[in-house]
Amino acid sequence: AVARTPLIAGNWKMNLDHLQSIAFVQKLAWSLRDAKHDYGQVEVAVFPPFTDLRSVQTLVTADKLELRYGGQDLSVHDSGAYTGETSGAFLAALDCRYVIIGHSERRQYHAETDQVVADKTVAALRHGLVPVICVGETADDLEQHGPSAVPVAQLRVVLEALASDADIVVAYEPVWAIGSGQAATPEQAQQVCSALRQSLDEALGDEAAQRTRILYGGSVKAANIAGFMAHKDVDGALVGGASLDVDEFSSIARFPK
Ligand code: G3P
Repeated sequence: AVARTPLIAGNWKMNLDHLQSIAFVQKLAWSLRDAKHDYGQVEVAVFPPFTDLRSVQTLVTADKLELRYGGQDLSVHDSGAYTGETSGAFLAALDCRYVIIGHSERRQYHAETDQVVADKTVAALRHGLVPVICVGETADDLEQHGPSAVPVAQLRVVLEALASDADIVVAYEPVWAIGSGQAATPEQAQQVCSALRQSLDEALGDEAAQRTRILYGGSVKAANIAGFMAHKDVDGALVGGASLDVDEFSSIARFPK
């Protein structure tokens, strides 16, 4: 079996301006340093608003931090007359490693379809970014179709557009668990993550399925992270609310191993 390095990722959503981002990243780096965090053992990434990324890059570079960071979205286009859009080329120029794609809030408020998510994934890969592809069912979907059907169908559309060596991360975020304080159980998360890994296997082959990290997201906090990480197909977490508290996020990254 391939050892996958866990990834603990903080999605700040529309929180923390660029000044606050500097203070936050500094404190986070100190907290992890004091705890002698080994970034090689558990990768840690933050996803600030676009306007913060240059500040985060400056700090990470100046202090030689091993912290990764990325954007919360990107354009399908590389440049041109697309007012308000941000190109993957610009994210790559800021040394972003990752970019979140198809978060349920983008799907819900910006009508992003599975095809748009697939196109954005291709755009990210074109610029050397690692897409963190978000999938997940609503409470209605869960009731109508059961636990894995919708996330698996969402992922399949994206995988059709990819080559077997594509470097991606998948994030399973049940919509009903996001910001609700009601996380999925570790067993529920494992069940869907295992089904998603099966889809990776079918679409991209065994090597990709074994190598690709699948994260759980939805009301993750320090008190419940260990339960998720104990399951074999859960390779980390995409954390929203709890990623905005330095001590809490730092504890999540140091989940008991
Ligand atoms: O992308 C992470 C997110 O949607 C989960 O949010 O606040 O439930 O941790 P939260």
